[in-house]
This record gives sequence, structure tokens and C-alpha cells, in this order.
Amino acid sequence: MRAIGLDVGTSAVKALALDEAGTVLARHEVGYPLAMPHPGWAEQDPEDWWRAAEAALAAVADGDEIAGIGLSGQMHGLVALDAGGRVIRPAILWNDQRTQAECDEITGLVGARRLVELTGNRALTGFTAPKLLWLRRHEPAAYARIAHVMLPKDYVRLRLTGERATDVADASGTLLLDVARRAWSAEVLDALDLDAGWLPRLLESPDVSGATAAGVPVAAGAGDQAAGALGVGVVRPGPLSVVLGTSGVVLTALDAFAADPEGRVHAFCHASPGAWQAMGVMLSAAGALGWLQRTIAPGMPFPGLVAEAHRWDPGTGGLTFLPYLAGERTPHADPLARGAFAGLSMHHDRGALVRAVLEGVACGLRDCYDLVAALGGEAAQAGRASGGGARSALWLRIVASLLEVPIERLAVEEGAAFGAALLGGVAGGLWRDAGEAVAATVRVRDVIEPEPAWIEPYREVLARYRGLYPAAARPGAAA
Ligand code: XUL
Repeated sequence: MRAIGLDVGTSAVKALALDEAGTVLARHEVGYPLAMPHPGWAEQDPEDWWRAAEAALAAVADGDEIAGIGLSGQMHGLVALDAGGRVIRPAILWNDQRTQAECDEITGLVGARRLVELTGNRALTGFTAPKLLWLRRHEPAAYARIAHVMLPKDYVRLRLTGERATDVADASGTLLLDVARRAWSAEVLDALDLDAGWLPRLLESPDVSGATAAGVPVAAGAGDQAAGALGVGVVRPGPLSVVLGTSGVVLTALDAFAADPEGRVHAFCHASPGAWQAMGVMLSAAGALGWLQRTIAPGMPFPGLVAEAHRWDPGTGGLTFLPYLAGERTPHADPLARGAFAGLSMHHDRGALVRAVLEGVACGLRDCYDLVAALGGEAAQAGRASGGGARSALWLRIVASLLEVPIERLAVEEGAAFGAALLGGVAGGLWRDAGEAVAATVRVRDVIEPEPAWIEPYREVLARYRGLYPAAARPGAAA
């Protein structure tokens, strides 16, 4: 018996097969292109997702009996279908930036405070609702044909099961969900003059949404961050999910809905019924290190590059890096903020630049953590690391010391596909609920404690980092 997770990512579908103890039996990835037809646009063909999902699924099924399949994927993307279920235009993705005017329009129509009260979030360019308004204004012929709207992984579900459904965790990223009530928001839909009939049926993440032609149950699933958090064992308030991927995330589960009044962190439903989440997202985390490597040491493997940072003490001799290379979501919600090195001197070398990047990203995670902790009440006992950057013990030591929280590494770290597989297994009866699935499969491998001698210097670094933001902000944004 195996549980399968399918993660419909931005560059590939990743499929993962697990047994009841969480051992990875098989994994397979199938990639697809990303179109950027204009600056700031990001689009994909939903059929590419389906073709890749079919191939990846076949590769990990391996003739064994499948208990259930869970879906996860890139959040916020707009997939628009006509009455015949045909894709109307390429999907507009989470990282597409074309909708600032529509975000302003939504904030004006609903009111900034009311929007956060209802949806847990402010209007951000990547979210789904502003994309619908953009389509109404710029492609009225396409807009007139819309009969169904869905999120990326839900298109794969439609092809896999024939069902139109989504889960409350992924739906939280549309700006159309009443996140506290876990239901579509009639108030927001009315204010934006959008048709509630377009939206898919809402389920909790472990619920069965339908079955494949072969009769295998398919769980509702979750957006990638919620599924990823489940995959590192974040079901209820307790450990944080700390992601050092291209982007950086600090996420806590909550027992009740709570939102930052200014919408600086995302308040979403979590992938386990009766739980919510608060999530801070920084747009360039390991992505900032990738940029530095491409720029100053192309082709050099990351371990060698990061080793050069060991020679520097905390604070890197006064050098500070601001990681806003692609703008920022948390804490600044400023798409036009930009990165910086400040405090360079003749004695700084390549290792110093690397160390400053590791520290600057850790400061950004601390900004996320403070806002998330303010909503979560108690201080976290630990963070659970995932993402490519979590392979660096030095980086995790810096993060632990800046967050002042121990960071745990897990025995198996497979990201959102792992959480999706857990949801698939629950839907298929392999585990009773998400808590039991996590208890059966997620194991901590080791713990990286904050370095006592680094705590004080890093408090100073954090103050320096925060003081520098106005110089990097969109003009007027830092006031
Ligand atoms: C979450 C988010 C990303 C995307 C792409 O808010 O924007 O995690 O889901 O992975």
C-alpha cells in the first residue's frame, strides 16, 4: 500500500510515493516551461501540468496498490475555463506582477481593514481575485467566456477525477475566501461583482474530493506552503515551519483565525481541519544566495562558497545585506523595494559577501517570525527547516541564533509533495487524520541550537538591518 503526493510546482510536477511509516518508495519529476511574455508576467499552460502529472504519477505508482493520492501546488494562479471545461487562456501565476491597479481597486471597493478582517490578507498582485479584475478590463472577450475558475492543482484534479473542487488552505490565497468561516465570501464577491457560481466546491484538505478512473480516492489537498508545513509535522501550534527555498517562509499553525491588521503576514486556513496558519513570506531567501553565486562565482558549488563565510564573525565586520532583490512581501509588502550591500570596506572579500547574504536572509526570517509570533501567542519551541538552504549547517546556525529558536532538521525532507502524500493517505484510510499521519511519518534527525555567543551580536545586526530599509524602499513606502 502506498500513498502518493503530487505537487504541481512552478517548474515541475513532483510525485512522491510513501509507505505507512513515511519511507519514500519512489519519486519522480516532470518539468514544463514558464512563459514570461511581458516584463512582470508569468504564465503556464494548464495542459502542461496535466501531462506532467500523468507521467509523474505513472512513474511512482509501480503496480503497487495505491491507498490514496493527495494534491498540492503553486498557490494563487488563475485557471479560467469555459462552459465546456476548456482552458480559455494560459494560467496567470502566483509570481505575476501585472495587477497593481486591480489590487488598488479591490482595496478601494472592500476597504483595507474589512479586506483583512474577511480574507486575512491585503490585496497582493499575485493573488487570484485581482487577476480576474485584470481579465475583465484587458481581455473582455476571454472574461465573457468564463464559466469556471480554479487554482493550478485543482485543474489537475479536474482531469484526474472529473471533479471541480478545492480545499480551504489553497482557497485562502484567492482573496475570495472568508478565512475565519472557511467559506467563500459573499461580501467580497458582491463588492467585486464576481460570479460565485464560477468557484469550485470547498473541502477540508484531507477530505476525499473524488476518485481516479481506477477508483483511487483523491484528497482535496492543499497549497504548497500548507502541505509543506504538514510535511515537516506542523499540524497544531508548536514548531514553526521555516523554509529556506527560493523564497523564505516562517509559518505557524493557529487554533483560531488571527490576522495582522495591516496584512503584513498571510492568515490562511491550514491543511488540517480546525486549524489556521500565519505565514510570513520573504521573496528572496536561497534565491538571494543563488543570485550571488551566479554573479560572483558562477559554477562554484554552494558548499565551497558557503565555507568561505565561516571565516567571518557574526556581523561580517559591519557589512549588511538587504535581501529585497525581487521586492518584498513580509514585512514590507513593497514590490518595488530593492536589495543592497551596506557597509562595504576594503577588507571585505567574497566570503564576507556570502556571510552577509546568509545573515541578511536570516534577518528577514526574523522579521517574519516576529509578526507571526505576535499572532500565535506563545513563543515557538522550535523551527523545522526545509528547502535547499537548509542543507547548510552554518546557515541554520545563523538562523537559529537570529530567531533565538532551535532549528530541527528532519529525517526525510521532501517538501510539499510529502505533505500531499500524507493527505492522500488520510483520504485513503492509511492514517486516521493529519495528526496521526504526521506522528507515523515525521521524525527529527538533529537539532541546531542558537549559538550563545552570537545572540548579542545578532541583536545588533538586526537593528542595523531594520534601520537600513528606508534606503531600499519604494520611494514613499518606508514612511
Ligand atoms: C505562497 C506562494 C508560493 C507559491 C509558489 O503564498 O506564493 O508558495 O505557492 O510556490
